[in-house]
Amino acid sequence: MKERIEALMAEIESLKCRKEQEIEEARVRLLGKKGEITKLFEDFRSVAPEMKREFGQKLNILKNTAVAKIEELRASVQESASAGDSSFDSTMPGDPVAIGSRHPVSIVREEIVNIFRKFGYDVAEGPEIEDDWHVFEALNFPPEHPAREMQDTFFISASDNPVLLRTHTSSVQVRAMEKMPLPIRIVCPGRVFRNEAISARAHCIFHQVEGLYIDEGVTFADMKQAILLFAREMFGPQTQIRMRPSYFPFTEPSAEIDVSCNICHGKGCNICKGTGWLEIMGCGMVDPNVLEASGIDSKKYSGFAFGMGVERIAMLKWQVKDLRNYFENDMRFLKEFETFI
Ligand code: PHE
Repeated sequence: MKERIEALMAEIESLKCRKEQEIEEARVRLLGKKGEITKLFEDFRSVAPEMKREFGQKLNILKNTAVAKIEELRASVQESASAGDSSFDSTMPGDPVAIGSRHPVSIVREEIVNIFRKFGYDVAEGPEIEDDWHVFEALNFPPEHPAREMQDTFFISASDNPVLLRTHTSSVQVRAMEKMPLPIRIVCPGRVFRNEAISARAHCIFHQVEGLYIDEGVTFADMKQAILLFAREMFGPQTQIRMRPSYFPFTEPSAEIDVSCNICHGKGCNICKGTGWLEIMGCGMVDPNVLEASGIDSKKYSGFAFGMGVERIAMLKWQVKDLRNYFENDMRFLKEFETFI
């Protein structure tokens, strides 16, 4: 028996097959029902008990070697078959990988932020899920203000201390005033949420960049100049601005900023609805109540704040007529901005 095992072992080790069929034949001859190794296992039953251990081990090794060899031969035959497959042409060009491009809202947000960075503003960010204090109370919103109604704001919980989705990034300015050392000069880019019916001109989610500058002796003239410089960087050096009186609970006085229409240069077109002006942002001098609510001495410090919608600026820049385009991820729309990366 020992010799038979050794002879078979040598045969298995030197086994060479070039075809699937030859391998199958070798498998049947060795491991099949009437195969040599199968026969050896049958003979093993009549081996003397004291020899069982030694032969048992040898037989198992023989069988495992045979199984492994057959597998190895199969793998190498398959490999050489596919390497020689004439339908595979390694010189063919590969499948193209579609390269994404930046979203127009991201492009414009970055452009706005970079302009203010150049003016020395830092970037501040804050949570999208907020409390009543940071979105309304600290910003001087009276209790009956409509923004505090369910119809206008998304509330997550409406307990005594409501949790809600921020309706503007002014909440980040409050957080900055509470924490940052003075003077403060920041822009706050971010996503905001309002309970609005979705249309070509309004969406329940959009993006803002708001700004805040607080120091000793900051005046309305400083605000006007900062916004004029921004408008010229954003819309071109010929751009004019005009201010219209407005109202926000957190600024006094407040204004709405229009820029001269960069399409018709003041002559009147359908983008500016014939007026020659386009509204781009709200702004104002920070109300002393707001400074005091965040622990800033309003006798010593003053400041201005402004806020604009990123989608609105992007619409004006590229004359996009329907705001919904920015949220639908239609590739045909997004591809138009590929060159702006
Ligand atoms: N927070 C205002 C809005 O969301 C914008 C604004 C910011 C106006 C700062 C004035 C000053 O509409």
